[in-house]
Amino acid sequence: MTRSRGRFRVPLDDEALRFSSSLEIDRRLFREDIEGSIAHVTMLAKQKILPGAAARTIRKALAEIREELEAGGVPLAPGGRSGGRLAADDIHMAIEARLVQKVGAVGKMLHTARSRNDQVALDERLYLCREIPKARKLVRGLQRVLVQKARVYKDVIMPGYTHLQRAQPVLLAHHLLAYVEMFERDGQRFQDTLRRAARSPLGAAALAGTSFAIDRASTARLLGLPGIVDNSMDAVSDRDAVIECVSACALTMMHLSRLAEELVLWVSQEWRFAAIGEAFTTGSSIMPQKQNPDMAELVRGKTGRVYGDLVALLTLMKGLPLAYNRDMQEDKEPLFDALDTTLASLSIMARMFATVRFATARFEEELRSDFLLATEVADYLVRKGMPFRSAYTIAGSIVQECIDRRCSLNDLPLERYRKFSALFATDVYKALDPRMTLRRKQSAGSTSPAEVSRALQRWQKKLGR
Ligand code: ARG
Repeated sequence: MTRSRGRFRVPLDDEALRFSSSLEIDRRLFREDIEGSIAHVTMLAKQKILPGAAARTIRKALAEIREELEAGGVPLAPGGRSGGRLAADDIHMAIEARLVQKVGAVGKMLHTARSRNDQVALDERLYLCREIPKARKLVRGLQRVLVQKARVYKDVIMPGYTHLQRAQPVLLAHHLLAYVEMFERDGQRFQDTLRRAARSPLGAAALAGTSFAIDRASTARLLGLPGIVDNSMDAVSDRDAVIECVSACALTMMHLSRLAEELVLWVSQEWRFAAIGEAFTTGSSIMPQKQNPDMAELVRGKTGRVYGDLVALLTLMKGLPLAYNRDMQEDKEPLFDALDTTLASLSIMARMFATVRFATARFEEELRSDFLLATEVADYLVRKGMPFRSAYTIAGSIVQECIDRRCSLNDLPLERYRKFSALFATDVYKALDPRMTLRRKQSAGSTSPAEVSRALQRWQKKLGR
């Protein structure tokens, strides 16, 4: 905070001022700051702490300042000695200084029964209340794209992987719906964060509350918040909602990054499982043949930064004694960065994924030529009465035999099968039809067409399409 008089005999050192100013960063809280001040001053007048006329003057001027700031007009600058520019080291002081500049002494009443400590805590909570619904909406949008793709490719079977080794056939729709589930949890986490964020810390003042007869609940109501943060020390020193939000961002990014990684693999020449629409791929400056999945790679890359934001915040808070400490000013960059990055990543992923085309013929090809159905050979023997572990060993030997003979399970003659077990009969080849194996699955949540279409319907209904 800048000072002209008061307790200080010398002005704040220029470099110290630049070092401590957060104006460049917290400028984007101006809407929340003004909204909070308007509610505060309204409550002060209602409680007769401030004359009604003063409150009206302040409210009107604050609304004007909001317009000035929306238009990018007010020369907000740190410092008190920068000829004619506003003296302030953060958005709260800048707005207050501008208010006093506009309305004179009346403006100096605004900060009655308030501190920047409860003010900044409120601004951040209001910011979360504004931004989190955007995240929720974008998550929904991405879920819709995934469900839409699952519907388009409803019958397509693809190799499912474990250890990135081909494991068993699955429906492509099942694979895509797994991501829909992940993003559902992300949406819930954002929602849950919002529930706890939507409380007003205002009236906690510096840390101990105030001797003025304020009505904290009324300020909260004016702000549309369902309640207050009760303990005044908790109110000014807690940043849980910020951390929860960034944590929800980090998990969302982790899911986005996994999807991005799959896209990168799928569109590679080695896999050729899918293609991304040209509008979302880039070329190489030297290799004319390239169409690179840069958007997916960037989503994957930005995920690391968002993790960094989360770790920065957790580390920022871990050693702080109660209540407010200036360290906490450093919470804004990671919060803004994490939210900006996550919102942008959700948006680009949804729009890019909408352009993805899957190479269904390639899937069929791969399914025929592979050992994805080795488990089926074992299950076949189990159905004929053999204990699973013995059947598993035999199926393994049959795979080895196929590798030696360079043929697929389908091409291995029956008499070869029968060398391993007399239980084999011609119906073994039926067990080797991927479509049949999927249909035989009967556990809840499995990749059977019936279960997948049940899930698909559930999601379509839930997501409104
Ligand atoms: N710019 C400060 C922050 O973001 C506002 C609170 C300042 N409070 C104080 N006592 N210096 O944390």
